[in-house]
Amino acid sequence: NETIYILAIESSCDDTSAAVLCNNKKLSNIVATQKIHEEYGGVVPELASRAHQQNIVPVVHQALAKANIDKKQLSAIAFTRGPGLMGSLLVGTSFAKSLSLGLNISLIEVNHMQAHILAHFIEEENSKIPAFPFLAMTISGGHTQIVLVKDYFKMEILGQTLDDAVGEAFDKSAKILGLPYPGGPLIDKYAQLGNPKAFPFPKPKVDGLDFSFSGLKTSILYFTQKHTKENPNFLEDNRDDICASIQYTIIDILMSKIKKAVKQTGVKRVAIGGGVSANSGIRKALFEAEKKHGWETFIPKFEYCTDNAAMIGIVGYLKYKDANFSDQSITAKARYVI
Ligand code: KG4
Ligand code: ZN
Repeated sequence: NETIYILAIESSCDDTSAAVLCNNKKLSNIVATQKIHEEYGGVVPELASRAHQQNIVPVVHQALAKANIDKKQLSAIAFTRGPGLMGSLLVGTSFAKSLSLGLNISLIEVNHMQAHILAHFIEEENSKIPAFPFLAMTISGGHTQIVLVKDYFKMEILGQTLDDAVGEAFDKSAKILGLPYPGGPLIDKYAQLGNPKAFPFPKPKVDGLDFSFSGLKTSILYFTQKHTKENPNFLEDNRDDICASIQYTIIDILMSKIKKAVKQTGVKRVAIGGGVSANSGIRKALFEAEKKHGWETFIPKFEYCTDNAAMIGIVGYLKYKDANFSDQSITAKARYVI
């Protein structure tokens, strides 16, 4: 029984992250979040790749130091191949390829969306690990998907967003309300003080298990314009109720789709991941569904919800056990379906 040490690299969007895993356990998980994008109200791809270039070496050093292992002990290096921003992916991909060559260790490519799901298999004290099959809903600033997970690497996308991701819906709504980027956590904070039924917003009509959030953003924009014309202080006066109503609508959309997926598949194990998993509304709704519908729900530690390299590392470990390696001809892939 060999002990496997994986160094993992994540650089798909605006977080530069490196982690070290010993088998299925995390030894370190360092994330450098790029502040530069805040002033632009969204991720600027060119600035993201430049920042990755600056961050990657120190972040890897920190991850190795925190794990207290020498690079000579590493069994393999795993990296995010895609999906993501090409300029960002190139930094992690090139770094991982070079290091695998330099250290003469195996290279393992990882699909970022699979990693968000397989993050549930990182073993922690008191962690709850889903049995197969289960439904995974990945909700973040970049993704909104419902996936049927039959086995580690047997996944089927049942539905996904046709336009904005759910985190974008939160952030763009917040921007309309004049809140700073990223506004999702602020909407959540104010929502807890307001009345969710104060302002009804329309729910999109989308077939099957797909999502759409661009219409909601437009209706919030019109709603805001109309009311501020009548009362210039409308947003300040009603901040909490507006946030509560927006959050209620978004959570209602997510919950109605995941309920539909449970009905369609008969699978009552529901796992979530991605930055929006931090939202108090989705957590409460899932907790209620557990009690009301007998679901079993899984929410990973927040550290493993937002973009991080530990989730890339667990996929690296699972692929290592299958001897599923890549060679030096591997290239980054901006569009990379599960
Ligand atoms: O997973 P993540 O860190 O990065 C992406 O891969 O996108 O997710 C970030 C997204 C942002 O849109 C942020 O506003 C949202 O997650 N978010 C939240 C909350 N915390 C983070 N949205 C709503 N409520 C929250 N509490
Ligand atoms: Zn992500």
